[in-house]
Amino acid sequence: MTTIAVINQKGGVGKTTTAVNLGAGLARIGKKVLLIDFDPQANLTSHLEPETGDGRLSTYDLLRSRKALSDVVRPTSEANLFLVPSSADLAGVELELAAEIGRETILRDQLARAWVAGARFDYVLVDCPPSLGLLAINALVAADEALVPIQAEFFALQGISRFVEVQGLVQSRLNGALRLAGIVICLWRGQANLSREVREEVQNVFGDVLYETVIRQNVKLAEAPSAARTIFAHAPDSNGAADYAALTQEFLRRHDDALAVAAAAHLLAPEGSVQGAEHLETGAGPA
Ligand SMILES: Nc1ncnc2c1ncn2[C@@H]1O[C@H](COP(=O)(O)OP(=O)(O)OP(=O)(O)O)[C@@H](O)[C@H]1O
Ligand SMILES: [Mg+2]
Repeated sequence: MTTIAVINQKGGVGKTTTAVNLGAGLARIGKKVLLIDFDPQANLTSHLEPETGDGRLSTYDLLRSRKALSDVVRPTSEANLFLVPSSADLAGVELELAAEIGRETILRDQLARAWVAGARFDYVLVDCPPSLGLLAINALVAADEALVPIQAEFFALQGISRFVEVQGLVQSRLNGALRLAGIVICLWRGQANLSREVREEVQNVFGDVLYETVIRQNVKLAEAPSAARTIFAHAPDSNGAADYAALTQEFLRRHDDALAVAAAAHLLAPEGSVQGAEHLETGAGPA
């Protein structure tokens, strides 16, 4: 099980879009993927599960009352893709936990407990809120890797350096295994000089940490949440689907999963024909 914090304290850079669609790409080639919505805005939750109000348990319960992961996980309309939903009450959890000893390690402890209880996910993606508070720290403490979506804008590098500082602190004090495993440029406007300059600068500073794949600005990606579908279900022929398929492939290459890389080459094949070797039936077929 590899846990990945999808994180950037800057808002609107593509964290949620990347968590959903990288998660869906991995799920479609047969990986068992858990998405944890760690943002009180609950964008990831409404992207995958628009109906609310049924009293479902959420990330709040996982953190605050230590409900077991198995009680808060829900299937989604995509096979192999599971969700721990968020809710507005998560906004209060940082204050509510402020005096609690061990508050930074709750998610790590919960994932470890779930593992002991038999939960087997290949990848856990934690969609972080746009801040570096207790929620983000919990995600970084639980994570093997941080994946940082950025926009190719003037302040992008400044944003990453602040993140790198916090990551270093978490690494030295709470989670020695944490590494910055990827930076992905989202909302890419390739025709703009500034985009290319920023990309070059990030590449100079971070080298191979920067993904080769860029996620182009694509209206289908902006539409997909309102259709409550991943990009592969919503617009499989779009640039958005092509870019997230490429990202999935590059992600798997970086995780030395050659078999899965080969399967990922078929991510954009017609609906229903995408089956990885370990494809699991969950009772919920692709949307
Ligand atoms: N490549 C893209 N092309 C077009 N629109 C996009 C793209 N990526 C994301 N968007 C849209 O941009 C907005 C911000 O994206 P997203 O919600 O993924 O960012 P975020 O970093 O999670 O934001 P927040 O910090 O608020 O959680 C959303 O409306 C999303 O649909
Ligand atoms: Mg978000």
